[in-house]
Amino acid sequence: MDFADVVRRRRMVRNYDPDRPVSSELVDKLLEYAIRAPSAGFSQGWGFLVLDGQADRDRFWEITTEPGDAADSWLHGLRRAPVLIVALSNKQIYLDRYAAADKGWTDKDEARWPVPYWDIDTGFASLMMMLGAVDEGLATCFFGIPPEFTATFRATFDVPDAYTPIGVLSVGYAAPDRPSPSLKRGRRQVSEVVHRGRWGSGG
Ligand SMILES: Cc1cc2nc3c(=O)[nH]c(=O)nc-3n(C[C@H](O)[C@H](O)[C@H](O)COP(=O)(O)O)c2cc1C
Repeated sequence: MDFADVVRRRRMVRNYDPDRPVSSELVDKLLEYAIRAPSAGFSQGWGFLVLDGQADRDRFWEITTEPGDAADSWLHGLRRAPVLIVALSNKQIYLDRYAAADKGWTDKDEARWPVPYWDIDTGFASLMMMLGAVDEGLATCFFGIPPEFTATFRATFDVPDAYTPIGVLSVGYAAPDRPSPSLKRGRRQVSEVVHRGRWGSGG
């Protein structure tokens, strides 16, 4: 698919065809895309937990949602996704990487970091998968695990404390869904968000 089409077609899809599984080859392809993402100092401090078995997915939904939540329509459709990929970041890998001789931040002081690059890079990797999925005719939605469920999520899936789930990618073949009400906000145009030369100059 033309790259411009991939970008234009990408959207969060919150309902999936329950009768169309995603082949393990395609899942592997997405993960290969993920590891091509850029990362600060080539730290690559990410990890991906693939839940492509029904029992694992059931467990995931059970421990990351409240009992009545399934009635919520977007969650209902999302639960049909045949694959979930949890993207996790590891801050310590970055602190250790930047303490190496070629970087020299031996104090490992987090204040040196303008923003949490470990989360950003894992987000980049997630976007690689989202765009790759569109190119393969698949659909995805990126959503967060509410913080109150993080500890149980780690315990349930044996995730080490060093890894923080930054989001989950549902992957599958699209089924009809309702557009998010958030879209009514409208897309902010280039002229609204771009400043040339100095802030306030307009796009
Ligand atoms: C960091 C992040 C978190 C999001 N969390 C959720 C979520 O919890 N549930 C959901 O339905 N959509 C979630 N979204 C999707 C956004 O609502 C969506 O990207 C936005 O409305 C624009 O729509 P589009 O991606 O389909 O173009 C999230 C998106 C991002 C980037």
